[in-house]
Amino acid sequence: MKWGKWQSFCTSIQKKFKEAPHESQKPNTTIQFLADPSKFNTTSQMAPLFLLFLLHVTTLSAADLRPGFYSETCPEAEFIVRDVMKKALIREPRSVASVMRFQFHDCFVNGCDASMLLDDTPTMLGEKFALSNINSLRSYEVVDDVKEALESVCPGIVSCADIIIMASRDAVALTGGPYWEVRLGRLDSLSASQEDSNNIMPSPRSNASYLIDLFQKYSLSVKDLVALSGSHSIGQGRCFSIMFRLYNQSGSGQPDPAIEPKFREKLDKLCPLNVDQNVTGDLDATPQVFDNQYFKDLVAGRGFLNSDQTLFTFPHTKKFVKLYSKDQGEFFKDFVEGMLKMGDLQSGRPGEVRKNCRVVTGHQANSFWELTKEREENYKVIKSTTRFCC
Ligand code: HEM
Repeated sequence: MKWGKWQSFCTSIQKKFKEAPHESQKPNTTIQFLADPSKFNTTSQMAPLFLLFLLHVTTLSAADLRPGFYSETCPEAEFIVRDVMKKALIREPRSVASVMRFQFHDCFVNGCDASMLLDDTPTMLGEKFALSNINSLRSYEVVDDVKEALESVCPGIVSCADIIIMASRDAVALTGGPYWEVRLGRLDSLSASQEDSNNIMPSPRSNASYLIDLFQKYSLSVKDLVALSGSHSIGQGRCFSIMFRLYNQSGSGQPDPAIEPKFREKLDKLCPLNVDQNVTGDLDATPQVFDNQYFKDLVAGRGFLNSDQTLFTFPHTKKFVKLYSKDQGEFFKDFVEGMLKMGDLQSGRPGEVRKNCRVVTGHQANSFWELTKEREENYKVIKSTTRFCC
């Protein structure tokens, strides 16, 4: 790494420590992230090998996040989210899968705080153009629609971070998967970090052992990893994400031997060497239905991504793939558990409730409780002034 770059990296780390919350509100766990050395093709894109990130991500206590959080302040909230997601599904079935992916890309990068929804500003490189997100994350407009609908009914109440959690749950339920009660009460971040996203989000080339280590840093088990990967039961991926495994797996000049030959023929046709790499293919054989077909496909050597198929070739993960391929109920149960755990990841930093999910509003607080208290105070002032006025 060049010295100038190294210096700015060190400054950003120092800043991170300065910004770290006070001891009393500090997260329970300090988690270390090591950049994925297998990430992407070129050295310039590759995350620095020695990069060690100390990020503060924690699992909030149940007291901070709870079901029915908006039952008094915005009782219609969950209904509104569901309604907009239903419309999105009818308009473009894939869009709900794209929104569901947001939960992973949001929660893994400094907790579930909607940082990945922030647009770049002159002083901040956001996450939308991070390596795993650029030309890949999509359907941001569905979240905009949800937010607009919520703002028109209960302005300034429902956070974008909570919208992602509700919308992801609805995406699963609306496509035939399980329904579960979500814990709510998250704040939206005041910034985003492209660098953190680059260093954290796993590449489609990752192998199971790398993914196990990554998930473990978030207190997510091997079972959670396999169950959550079952999210690839819906949606699509680009040729860009599989070119290496079709033509040059691990620099061998050969395809990944784990791909079943007929399926490889199909993928070769979809993604020939000279293809526009934005062409997309289905992540499993039933890409609009949330079911356990994804696991059946892995058992048959028909996984789309390397990071999918590796779950069947690696012994620690294989047993869960086998189990879920035979027992959809078990998959659904473990998937819900994983989504709840992932949804509890928080940075502990101050936040706000944004008016527009793409932009920081600038009215920060340390917790939802503080925001609510502030609102109550404002309400009292409004009430008392009304009494003396007119
Ligand atoms: C285990 C590590 C994971 C890796 C390496 C990974 C990687 C990827 C990649 C490469 C794509 C296709 C992107 C493209 O080609 O543009 C994708 C799509 C997707 N991912 Fe993951 N993913 C992982 C875990 C997850 C998790 C935990 C979730 C959600 C809980 C998730 C949800 C999705 C969905 C729904 C899509 C399809 C999106 C669409 O159709 O727009 N993924 N993932």
